[in-house]
Amino acid sequence: MSLFTVDDTKCNRDGICVEICPAQIIVLDEDHQVPIHSKGAKEICINCGHCVSVCPTGALSLSTMSPEDCQPIQQELLPRPERVEHLLRSRRSIRTYTDQMVDRKLLTHLLQIASYAPTGGNRQPVQWHIIYDPDDVQHLASLVIDWMRSTMQKRSSSNRLVTDWDSGIDRICRNAPHVVVAHAPKNRGSASCNIALTSLELIAYASGLGACWGGYLNAAANLWPPMMKALGLPDGHACFGAMMIGYPKYRYQRIPLRNPAKITWL
Ligand SMILES: Cc1cc2nc3c(=O)[nH]c(=O)nc-3n(C[C@H](O)[C@H](O)[C@H](O)COP(=O)(O)O)c2cc1C
Repeated sequence: MSLFTVDDTKCNRDGICVEICPAQIIVLDEDHQVPIHSKGAKEICINCGHCVSVCPTGALSLSTMSPEDCQPIQQELLPRPERVEHLLRSRRSIRTYTDQMVDRKLLTHLLQIASYAPTGGNRQPVQWHIIYDPDDVQHLASLVIDWMRSTMQKRSSSNRLVTDWDSGIDRICRNAPHVVVAHAPKNRGSASCNIALTSLELIAYASGLGACWGGYLNAAANLWPPMMKALGLPDGHACFGAMMIGYPKYRYQRIPLRNPAKITWL
């Protein structure tokens, strides 16, 4: 099957697809000026869909996606910069949650959105584990504490977390009802998982939920065998980030100060 087909009754021969293709595998046919792919293109194409997405007339269909498969971009739904700015600046790491469970459908939807984050070479390596049952979340937190106890002499910063745990305060998973873990093949996927989790935190906030990076959980997930066993990631995969998620107990009222951006102009 051809990598893509072009409906030449729709193609206006503007060459935009040629210009935007990141792999530079589209050329214009010399006789008809319609897009064709260069030799060996199938092996080079990263299936990013930019050619389908950008074509003003919907003339180009990849074998994997047609223009009809792709939702039109509705300019009127795009937020103005000040709205995005407010979203980005008012997002907070949420560490106190209500007991309310997040609907599985909503969590699935949020992960679908987070999966639109950029990935290296469009490889889309990010996979998700959802620890849905709050008891299981607590079990994972207890495994982090076990790990901390086992390394306590070396890591005095862990001492307070362990002491707090012993007095009933969960500073590991913050009593969140759910945890989401992003994992990918060990040698590729760290940045992609981090970016996807960042998107997840933002869409969670925009959807009335709250989230917080689980740094301790993530560290234990790659270092503490009982945690690795409990998570049961596929062979060859590493955990590249964990996030607590749930309904926030409190609403923040103002945006705390942050350092100004440190910028060097070269
Ligand atoms: C990689 C990473 C790991 C983090 N791990 C934790 C964590 O284990 N527990 C926690 O309460 N917050 C954690 N945080 C949240 C930071 O403490 C938080 O981003 C910072 O205090 C600033 O607050 P803000 O996110 O509300 O702006 C983590 C953040 C990042 C980026």
